[in-house]
Amino acid sequence: MCGIVGYIGERKAFPILLEGLKRLEYRGYDSSGISLLNGELKTFKKKGKVSELEKFEEAVNSHATIGIGHTRWATHGKPDDINAHPHHSGNNRLALVHNGIIENYGTLKEYLISEGHEFRSETDTEVLVHLIEQIQESKNLDLESAVRYALQKVVGAFAIAVIDREHPNIIVGARKSSPLVVGIGDNEFFIASDATPIIKYTNQIIYLDDDEVVTISRDDNPQIRSLDNKLVDYHIEQVDLKLEEIEKGGYDHFMLKEIYQQDESIYEAMRGRINAGEGWVKVGGMQDHYNRIENAERFIIVACGTSWHAGLIAEYLFEELARIPVEVEYASEFRYRNPIIGPKDVVIALSQSGETADTLSALELAKEKGALIYGIVNNVGSSIARITDCGSYIHAGPEIGVASTKAFTSQLVVLTLMALDLAHKRGTISERNFQALISEFELIPQKVKKVLQQAAHIKSIASEIKSASNALYLGRGYNFPIALEGALKLKEISYIHAEGYPAAEMKHGPIALIDMYMPVIVIATNKNAYEKIFSNVQEVKARKGIVIAIVSEGDTEIKKIADFTIEIPNTDDVFSPLLSAIPLQLLAYYIAVMRGCNVDQPRNLAKSVTVE
Ligand code: AGP
Ligand code: GLU
Repeated sequence: MCGIVGYIGERKAFPILLEGLKRLEYRGYDSSGISLLNGELKTFKKKGKVSELEKFEEAVNSHATIGIGHTRWATHGKPDDINAHPHHSGNNRLALVHNGIIENYGTLKEYLISEGHEFRSETDTEVLVHLIEQIQESKNLDLESAVRYALQKVVGAFAIAVIDREHPNIIVGARKSSPLVVGIGDNEFFIASDATPIIKYTNQIIYLDDDEVVTISRDDNPQIRSLDNKLVDYHIEQVDLKLEEIEKGGYDHFMLKEIYQQDESIYEAMRGRINAGEGWVKVGGMQDHYNRIENAERFIIVACGTSWHAGLIAEYLFEELARIPVEVEYASEFRYRNPIIGPKDVVIALSQSGETADTLSALELAKEKGALIYGIVNNVGSSIARITDCGSYIHAGPEIGVASTKAFTSQLVVLTLMALDLAHKRGTISERNFQALISEFELIPQKVKKVLQQAAHIKSIASEIKSASNALYLGRGYNFPIALEGALKLKEISYIHAEGYPAAEMKHGPIALIDMYMPVIVIATNKNAYEKIFSNVQEVKARKGIVIAIVSEGDTEIKKIADFTIEIPNTDDVFSPLLSAIPLQLLAYYIAVMRGCNVDQPRNLAKSVTVE
């Protein structure tokens, strides 16, 4: 939900921290700050974008070689200069940055006030740094021990980094339910929320696990201890992430770059898992538990946002192809409704970041109740990837734009492959149908390329509806969740209110909204029930609605009555979401740009929601 970065080494810390925060800004960006230690402990923090920090000349000119930084997504206390991190202890000896929520901060704050502490900010984070100070002073402990003691009293989620004016050669970090990694360079060490701010300097990364406290120092290798003070062995991973993957590469926005990467990212999600020539599909992540998955009584899919839309499509896929009953749940609802889960259930988590708090907690509940838990994530080494029994990476590469695009289509690829793999093994589709489907599947990356060639046409349509206040998205079957996804894309980056609906549902209420000012985007590529969706378009036109229809190439019928038409290559209904999602991503992108919105960092949002 926010970005943490820390540096200790031989170089000036400020430029490294500043660049690191810019690379993490997609995680949260309402305010930011940096603390530097060079004899004195100095903190520079400001509301707004990370670039505001470049206005602090003292920081820019500082020779400090140790420091920590933070880019915030506020949970407690409005975004402003005071509530920005880092936060100091009362004695100004410590500075701390935090990702997450201290749920019992109220109780702790009352205790600390009774001990004479005074607070400058409204945040829960400041309570934590005062608690560490209180323990360090009262028990005369070193920083690492004081952090361990303090965290044993904390309820909530955290990833933190702390520095101590009296010990300028160490940074202490810790995590519980929020990600934290350590980078090992040449005579320098890094600590951060993820690898993106570190890989410019090193690909040697340690991923911390929950309830671990790490001490990085100039003079020694990193040391990791559990909260109950047991030394923890750790593994140094060689992270395969390149700098150009996290840069815009000539595109105006990360979101546009990631939309255009989808022919490659979809191919990468398929690579090694399908071979139409030899007639097979094989999803490696299922193999170790294949019997339990193949014979599951039910799949329960837990996810949030765009990933939840992918889950809805998976329900159609698994039930139609593999005849396995599926339930799709908002993770945030699932975890609190005391669901019925058993050992014959397979719970599948869909998450680009692999760090979404609600999805992680839903998985933990499923694990406690004995279900097999399967993760489909993008972020290698993420928390969800680490707690699941098995799973599949979607190999979409880093997705920096807050609005998820390539990760969504890559999730669909993995889910479709799983459904085909299981259908073939369970004999729920004929060999002939299986072979036809996998042959068509392998053509999808090329068909995606053709859809992307429609960008200029889609941009012209965007200019026609960019001033709308509301929009309606309609779809049937596999394209109903795409209607939801298209609406979410528009909402979250252009701030236009939009709703997605099953096309047939329109006459049960939303049709009252239709007038000449209402753009209605209809995904009408269906082979199955085409005439029904055709009627829905007519119903909208009869009420003077503005119809933008996504149709299959060669469809002349709807083209006659729609105001605007976007033609996409013909494919089987099963694969249509992989193509129909893309015009909707581009439509939302161009409208948001025309409205002057911050496409990559929309207001109030963050890329990874690691708090409830
Ligand atoms: C996607 O466009 C949204 N930004 C958001 O709904 C996102 O899909 C959701 O927060 C889930 O994230 P995850 O896939 O990383 O778990
Ligand atoms: N809860 C803390 C705050 O509101 C941290 C939020 C974040 O993760 O950025 O400052």
